[in-house]
Amino acid sequence: MFITFEGIDGSGKSTQIKLLADALEVDGRDVVRTREPGGSDGAEAIRRLLVEGDPGRWSAETEILLFTAARRDHLERLIEPSLADGKIVLSDRFADSTRIYQGAARGELRDIVDRLHALMIKREPDLTIVIDMDPDAALARGLARGSGEDRFEEFGAAFQHKLRAGFQALAKAEPDRVKLVDGDRDVEAVAADILAIVKAHLP
Ligand code: ADP
Ligand code: TYD
Repeated sequence: MFITFEGIDGSGKSTQIKLLADALEVDGRDVVRTREPGGSDGAEAIRRLLVEGDPGRWSAETEILLFTAARRDHLERLIEPSLADGKIVLSDRFADSTRIYQGAARGELRDIVDRLHALMIKREPDLTIVIDMDPDAALARGLARGSGEDRFEEFGAAFQHKLRAGFQALAKAEPDRVKLVDGDRDVEAVAADILAIVKAHLP
């Protein structure tokens, strides 16, 4: 089973993935935790080009190519082999991030994103958890980390509001696959909702 986590920057995805992985492992499941951009050596190298530096470093079109190149490497080397081994793969972001960050929030590039996905990626997650929350609160959480990986955070609050709306629209368009969880609560409450959704989907 392939489960992805999506949402705006600082919404709590990595915190929740770790808690979910721990809960599934206690249950005796074999879990692989990964992230995008990244998750394989080649994709991690591409990640550094994407998340560091000036917001204007790449055009949206170039970003689509770089994210897709990173995703293809991640898919070939980690995701597909792990799924073939019967593992549960939990990924912090996947193709929906490109659909929303590059395809919706920064110009009408969704068609290019979809065509490139159909050519090079093809795979969709079995389940996608979108952690939905107020962008101003999430931005404050994210910048407080001081990770140096804040190129996308630096696009500012208006951008994050567009992203939130994009993820909400995605959940509406694909209600069977994409589940919205309210992230503006304490960590344990969010984790309990996510675990219930995932357990309902596990074979
Ligand atoms: P993301 O992976 O979506 O960017 P993180 O899990 O790294 O988000 O969380 C961003 C920051 O907010 C971290 O410092 C984390 O400890 C904190 N955080 C995560 N979830 C919550 C929550 N429910 N309430 C308050 N702070 C949180
Ligand atoms: P991530 O490390 O998940 O950031 P955060 O922890 O702040 O949520 O992802 C890095 C940045 O890359 C993030 O701002 C979202 C962006 N991104 C895209 O724009 N398109 C994509 O396809 C992906 C996977 C990420």
